[in-house]
Amino acid sequence: MLSTIVKSSVSFSRLASTVPISFHKGADHWANVECEIGSNLMREAQKHGVPLAGACEGSCACSTCHVYFDQPHFDLLPEATDREEDMLDFSHEPDVTSRLACQVTVDETMAGAEIDVPLMTRNLVSEEEMMDNL
Ligand code: FES
Repeated sequence: MLSTIVKSSVSFSRLASTVPISFHKGADHWANVECEIGSNLMREAQKHGVPLAGACEGSCACSTCHVYFDQPHFDLLPEATDREEDMLDFSHEPDVTSRLACQVTVDETMAGAEIDVPLMTRNLVSEEEMMDNL
């Protein structure tokens, strides 16, 4: 009986086309979003109203899609490219779990991830820092 339940659970997770991801910006602003596997994380977040500017439309040139992953889920991500690492160096207050959401593809390992959206971003397209209103 237990093995049937476990097999069913595994089969269901293989068939799932979305994973739940929580976005946080400011102390009380959480958005729990079902993100499509295989989609771009920034586009999924924007589609559900998460405030990521994405000023360069995902071409890895502005850092306005900078986010912080929780450590366990960050550790499961594919490594950032050299270009993404270079752009993260220009983001506002980068940390060890920083990523550019436009460079991340949603996959099964992101189920349950908690992602912080910084209160401030640095827009390298216009060379201005922006403080978002909460
Ligand atoms: S949208 Fe510009 S770097 Fe991600």
